[in-house]
Amino acid sequence: MKRIIFATGNAGKMREIKEIMADTGAEILSMKEAGIEADIVEDGTTFEENAVIKAKAVAAFTDDIVLADDSGLEVDYLNKEPGVYSARYLGEDTSYDIKNQAILDRLSGVPKEKRTARFVCAIAAAMPDGEVLVTRETIEGYIGEKPAGANGFGYDPIFYVEEYGCSTAELSEEQKNAVSHRGKALRAMKEQLNQYTG
Ligand code: IMP
Repeated sequence: MKRIIFATGNAGKMREIKEIMADTGAEILSMKEAGIEADIVEDGTTFEENAVIKAKAVAAFTDDIVLADDSGLEVDYLNKEPGVYSARYLGEDTSYDIKNQAILDRLSGVPKEKRTARFVCAIAAAMPDGEVLVTRETIEGYIGEKPAGANGFGYDPIFYVEEYGCSTAELSEEQKNAVSHRGKALRAMKEQLNQYTG
């Protein structure tokens, strides 16, 4: 395992993957660092499909291993919305203050036991030989009654984790990475890659 390209333009995700993959000895590059520009249409209906679409699209430009992720929030009471549309929910440019408030409004009066939700993350690895590896992990929680915390991003202020008794926006980056959907999926992918490349 020499070079791994991560198909994202998100600096936070790059930081996390570099930290988790540090002990593999592989050089981890963003698409930009690898000089790859690709406009990818994420038209899959599952997180796994979208991760595979992104990884394969970027793999067309390189002989290195390409990793890609797709993630989002599933709210059980809302039939697992916003799901794969999490980034696009109410429009890509709509602020998360508005998106989060809209979810709170839709859950108004709904008791805690029916407010269950999870963050999901799928990671795909497109290998130079054409093989594709996929991992998928979740973090279970519930939608709180009001937003709290200023860390993290996206839906973190309304997503509460029972074991911490607070929202994921109130956790430090280290605390969140230890239990998050993305942290777990990345560590699972690291294991798969180790086995695959020997
Ligand atoms: P993508 O995986 O970059 O396509 O986007 C996933 C979207 O899901 C983000 O824009 C957020 O809205 C949401 N999301 C995924 N992971 C998290 C998280 O850890 N915290 C908060 N929101 C998240």
